[in-house]
Order: sequence, then C-alpha cells, then structure tokens
Amino acid sequence: MILLDGKKTSADIKEEIALEVASLKQQEKKSPHLAAIIVGNDGASLTYVNAKVKACERVGFESTLIRLPETTTEEELLNEIAVLNVDKDINGFIVQLPLPDHIDEQKILMAIAPEKDVDGFHPMNVGKLALNLPTFISATPYGILELLERYQIETSGKDVVVIGRSHIVGSPMSILLAQKRTVGNATVTLTHSRTKNLAEITKKADIIVAALGIPEFLKGAMVKDDVVIIDVGITRVADASKKRGFRLVGDVAFDEVKDKASHITPVPGGVGPMTIAMLLKNTLLAYYRQNEH
Ligand code: GUN
Repeated sequence: MILLDGKKTSADIKEEIALEVASLKQQEKKSPHLAAIIVGNDGASLTYVNAKVKACERVGFESTLIRLPETTTEEELLNEIAVLNVDKDINGFIVQLPLPDHIDEQKILMAIAPEKDVDGFHPMNVGKLALNLPTFISATPYGILELLERYQIETSGKDVVVIGRSHIVGSPMSILLAQKRTVGNATVTLTHSRTKNLAEITKKADIIVAALGIPEFLKGAMVKDDVVIIDVGITRVADASKKRGFRLVGDVAFDEVKDKASHITPVPGGVGPMTIAMLLKNTLLAYYRQNEH
C-alpha cells in the first residue's frame, strides 16, 4: 500500500509556487495578492483562514486578512466585496464559509467578481467547470486531481465511485473525473444518501472518493483489493487523550481498508493539506490572467 502523502505533495507545490514568485520579483514584478474575509469568531474557520494567510507569506504572496464582527450585515459584507472586486492590487479573494445565519451565502458568493473567485464557488465558474472551460477549480477537487496526477494513478477507463454530492467536493469531483482531461476519462458513479446497495457499487470501484462527512463510513468489506482510496472527510471526534481534546477522523475506516488498498490518503495529512496549496495555485493563475495583457 502506498500512502498518498498530501503533506509532502502540498509542500512540493508550495515550493514550486515560491520559485515562480521569486522569479517574478527578480523581474521587478508585483507579487500575487490574496485577500480573505472572515465574519465572526468561529475557531475552526479562524484556524483555516490563518493557515491560508501564513501559506501566502511562505510562498512570497501578499495577503490581506479582513476580519469582520459576527454582527456584520449582509449589506456591509457586500460593500467589502465590492471594494475588493475593483481593487487592482488584489488578484483573488475568498469569503470564508460558513457565514452567520443572517447572511445569504449564495448572494455573497454571486457578488464576488468571477475573475477573482479563487475558491471557484461563483455559479459562473461552476458552470465553466461543468463545460470544461478555463475556470478556477475549487481547492478540494483540484487537490485530488493533483494528487492523482503526481502519484501517476491512471483514471482513464477506470470505474470511479464518488460518495457524497456536495457542491464543494462530490459534485465537481464527479464532473471533473468524467471529463476529457489529463486526470479524467473515468466512468463515474455519483452516490449519496439515497443510493441503494451502496456496498455493491463501491466493491466494483477502482477508485473511491469518500466525501460524505461520516467518520469511518467506508469499511473494509465495502472495497475490492487494489482499490485507490481518496478520503475527503475530516470530522473532529472528541478524544480526551489528545491535548486539543479531539482527533481528526476521515470518512474511511483506515485500519480496515489500508491493507486492501493500493493507494490511500491518510487523515490528517492527505487531501486536507492539498487545499491550501491549490488555493495558492488558483491565486497565481488569477494573477497571470490579470497580467497577461
Ligand atoms: N470553509 C471550508 N472550506 C472552505 C473553502 O475552501 N473556502 C471557503 N471560502 N470557506 C471554506
């Protein structure tokens, strides 16, 4: 069994990006600049956003973190977005999700200029993804494509089963892997909570992407030998033996599945670390698109 090491792969990607930024600086060009807006004080969200800002610094990007109070109105947030949309110094920005209940998430995502939407959540970018047109592929599916490519896992003609139909992972993943692209050309089955006889379907899969958010859902008996497993789950499960009071658990029963799998992503250290690297890659892409004239 080969571990698909997201920690190392993401470090490689960040190193590649850092080299590109160094070369831009050498040519006396501006550095790519990512901004992030966060509303409220949710601990996990703050951790994520701070990690994104730190990653920017590591590769030589400029970064701006905009922290707004929990009581921010939808209109105030829309105003912040309108400012970033026209700020020539900002190449890309994200609004960290989830947002407080009094703010309409869809309205916010639709207000982001598509050419700066490095999360790839704007309907225009999702539509372009579905049509296999140049876009921003959102970080998690993009990270999975990158892991499969760098570990030279063949997807063409393979039976892929995606578990979970979320807008952020399952749905785009199923679309991308079926497309005519380097990592693609697969026969994809998208499964979800209403799927009948799921184990019969997963047992036939060459590659399984588990993205349903239920800890240790995919058991050893549900997979065939030599399967490739991509585990997208990261649920915090209470664990008094840990200093933080919890441990991170994937959607795959790792100990049962690992000996049957040819390749498997660990949790943590698999898909998770890839997402920040891909956000940086999208920011670099936004920068190049905005500076190619
Ligand atoms: N919350 C959890 N993941 C993400 C992400 O990729 N982007 C944003 N904006 N919010 C998130």
